[in-house]
Amino acid sequence: MEKKIIIAIDGFSSCGKSTLAKAMAKALEYVFVDTGAMYRAIALYFLRNNIPFNDTASIEALKAIELRFKYNSASQKSDMYLNGENVEQEIRAMQVSQKVSEVASIPAVRVFAVAQQQAMGIDKGIVMDGRDIGTVVFPNAELKLFVTADPAIRLERRYQELLKTNPSILKEEVSANLQQRDLMDSTRAHSPLRQADDALVLDNTNLDRVQQFELAMQWAMDKIKAS
Ligand code: DC
Repeated sequence: MEKKIIIAIDGFSSCGKSTLAKAMAKALEYVFVDTGAMYRAIALYFLRNNIPFNDTASIEALKAIELRFKYNSASQKSDMYLNGENVEQEIRAMQVSQKVSEVASIPAVRVFAVAQQQAMGIDKGIVMDGRDIGTVVFPNAELKLFVTADPAIRLERRYQELLKTNPSILKEEVSANLQQRDLMDSTRAHSPLRQADDALVLDNTNLDRVQQFELAMQWAMDKIKAS
């Protein structure tokens, strides 16, 4: 039987990481974990309960947070549950997007999320996407991808996605949020977004989903054979 590996996918917001990770996990029959959903659910809890965005308050608040992914057979993907409540829709709203980078920069929040992510990868056979997967969560992952795309393309993709649930959203608002999150995610003190030295760069500016998938799967199969 083929050996299972860990596939770590990192990159800026809205560059197609989750779409790629999901498709690869399905093809390989691996577990897919969208770590951004975990930070979004924590941010939602903090916003709902007026938790101050600092380490001391977070350590206390995190004791009351239970995160779970549960498979949704209708959408054929996992939904995020916060203390038993399905928050998959709510965590994608702009109110959460505006605060999530700030919450994700709190050291206690990262320690909390990373420990759970590492536990999920114990049996390998996992595709995980985020910002620090190849650098912090799984520094020994067999395959690390760093996904990039032209900022204008990322903005258009994100805008089209948000329009589906919020027809009045402004492109300027989406643009400002993407720029702010990119800056915060890549400049924060604790595990900032950066390309791992041994990551393969996948620039999908001129690739469609199928082309991107085929290229990444080629790399994955090479690593699986070599492992
Ligand atoms: O992937 P996303 O856009 O849903 O992620 C939401 C936020 O969570 C993003 O702005 C940065 C943060 N994040 C992080 O700091 N580390 C991760 N591994 C994943 C996401």
